[in-house]
Amino acid sequence: MKGICHVVLLSLVAGALSMAAQAATDHNDEASRAEQRAQQATQQLAKALAGRLKASMRAGGPLAAIDTCHLEAPGITDTTSEQAGLVVARTALRVRNPDNAPDEWEQMQLERFSTALDAGASPRTLKALERVDNGDGKHVWRYMQPILTGGLCLQCHGDVLAPEVAAAIAERYPNDQATGFALSSLRGAFTVTITE
Ligand code: HEC
Repeated sequence: MKGICHVVLLSLVAGALSMAAQAATDHNDEASRAEQRAQQATQQLAKALAGRLKASMRAGGPLAAIDTCHLEAPGITDTTSEQAGLVVARTALRVRNPDNAPDEWEQMQLERFSTALDAGASPRTLKALERVDNGDGKHVWRYMQPILTGGLCLQCHGDVLAPEVAAAIAERYPNDQATGFALSSLRGAFTVTITE
């Protein structure tokens, strides 16, 4: 009898182990699917925003482009989200538009990115992907990747702005915190939420 019990026990343990292994594989598959979708949406949003920004900078300089960002960025963000069937947006530790302020999880990831960059990490290696409880017992996948400043960005986010640019920003964003950035520094991040 003892022998049989051992066999039963062993097969129970083996069954449990293979179920755990299967669950881990499922989780990994799901994670890589979520990451792929998040990165695709991020690229779409980045491309759409950069396209509009560059076109309006060329056509009318930074003053015209401020209006483009102000009037179009939220709409472009919403449309990209709808098309991708998820929520993609931008956030930052210091925001221009208060609607882009980070929540607790985003704040944590932004601080982590900032510390890693200060320590010399390559921005390409930085990302966040996590399955989190969204508060009502349901789980969502969350993803973030850093946005660094290029030369163009400094005209509206740098240390010294042209007076008319500073005035136009102050008029539309009285609580603007998004100036004083150096070249290649952490301006913010793309942030994605995928509901399961
Ligand atoms: C012509 C001025 C202008 C330029 C150039 C510009 N931005 Fe912005 N940026 C804005 C405005 C205006 C907003 C607020 C948009 C809104 O209301 O959602 C903004 C918002 C952002 C945000 C969202 C977070 C926040 O602060 O609200 C990020 C991230 C950002 N910009 C990054 C960049 C990067 C990176 C570049 C360079 C590729 C850049 N910007 C170039 C004007 C500019």
